Amino acid sequence: MRTEHTQQTRGVEQARTRDGFASAIGAFAATLGSAVGLGNIWKFPYLTGSNGGGAFVLVYLGSVFVVGLPILVAEHLIGRKTRLNAIHAYGSIVPKAKYWSLIGWAGFLSAIFIMAFYTDVSGWVFAYIFKAIAAAFTGGVLNAGTFGSLAGGTWEPLLWQFLVLCLTTSIIASGVSRGIERVTKTLMPILLVLLILCDIRALTLPGAFAGVTYLFRPDFSKLTGSAILTALGLSFFKLSLGMGTMTTYGSYMPDSTRIVPNATRVALADTVVSLLAGLAIFPAVFAFGESPAGGPGLLFNIMPLIFSKMPFGSVFTIIFFILSAIATMGAMLSLVEVPVSWMVEKGKMKRPTAAYLTGAMMFALGILATLSQGPTLGNVKILGKNFFDLFDFLSSNVLLPIGGLAIAILTGWLLKKQDIVRELEKGYGEGKKPGYIQLVYVFIKYISPVVIFVIILNGFGIV
Ligand code: PFF
Repeated sequence: MRTEHTQQTRGVEQARTRDGFASAIGAFAATLGSAVGLGNIWKFPYLTGSNGGGAFVLVYLGSVFVVGLPILVAEHLIGRKTRLNAIHAYGSIVPKAKYWSLIGWAGFLSAIFIMAFYTDVSGWVFAYIFKAIAAAFTGGVLNAGTFGSLAGGTWEPLLWQFLVLCLTTSIIASGVSRGIERVTKTLMPILLVLLILCDIRALTLPGAFAGVTYLFRPDFSKLTGSAILTALGLSFFKLSLGMGTMTTYGSYMPDSTRIVPNATRVALADTVVSLLAGLAIFPAVFAFGESPAGGPGLLFNIMPLIFSKMPFGSVFTIIFFILSAIATMGAMLSLVEVPVSWMVEKGKMKRPTAAYLTGAMMFALGILATLSQGPTLGNVKILGKNFFDLFDFLSSNVLLPIGGLAIAILTGWLLKKQDIVRELEKGYGEGKKPGYIQLVYVFIKYISPVVIFVIILNGFGIV
């Protein structure tokens, strides 16, 4: 009882001195800002296309709501209960079991692996803004050659990656609420409107319906164990789970945030954005006779094609890549925040120093990822994968699912149920108790760990 009281007092004191989200709406916007990013517009379509379409989408949707959502809730509640960075949160949530901080450490590693390739792709998006502007003035077109020479180049992608990292780290250096909230709050709705416009255009192209069928009609013969693991990994990547990001964001949440409704809205909104991106890309892929399995270049090759069929298409192309660039920022800010919050709280480091140090680590691995897309390091393979794919595989298919499993076990089996209930009841007035808590608890404790465990074993060919 006493330790609990002391812990609570410590939490309250830290909440006072730590930076945090100013309001429940700000917390929602930042959480959504972390979730929405390249995962929706780049990774979801490209993985769906490489894994056969509808069946993959179905497994992905199942993973988001059966496994991802409960873990999002678990991460938020651990963050808000401890009001600590991820490493300290997991190291202190169970008394005398500091080794759970390994979840936070694995998250630290995942953040660096993810950023290594994420900043490369984000750099392509930023580069495309300028390429689209140039094309608008010269009457040129953005085609597969444009993408190939950018992604497969040396100095050009490295320069963009470097600029992206400089931008992200300087926003992080300026502080949580001022930096993150301001950037993410206003821009999501505009991206949504533009995506809907693309959907309308793509869906009205002749032959577009084959793309809708591809996206929504499941063909289970195309589904392998490793594709299922990839879909699970994608749902974790999408919702920024299994690596402490959402724990860190939970630690900045005000007590007025109702964790379960907030998480549900985030999962729904994020999924809608992915599906809207899919509904723009696949109908266009089929209408233009392209291959859905076009790999990482799919977004960059198909979107300009859709816009080329619209009035003012070149202006829309520019706006689309500007908004996408901004969407990637919200996600990257949350990725950089995981190591930075730990360095600041543990090492008493100044925020800017921590931000730039983290950026430097990310760039070091990022160089390998970027150069592995071209001739310089394209032939270097580890586990049969180049660096770009390796960092993606190690984070999405290994570290995030294992991290998610550990978080579910920790929350469901080692935390006191009354502590969980107390955290999930916050934000409701005195005496008003939401009725769904028992259900959420069953998902966290039983369903999600079992499902993740089976998918991991199956994905690696063990069962
Ligand atoms: N959720 C982001 C996206 O889908 O683009 C990527 C991401 C952000 C993954 C933050 C992990 C993370 F911690």
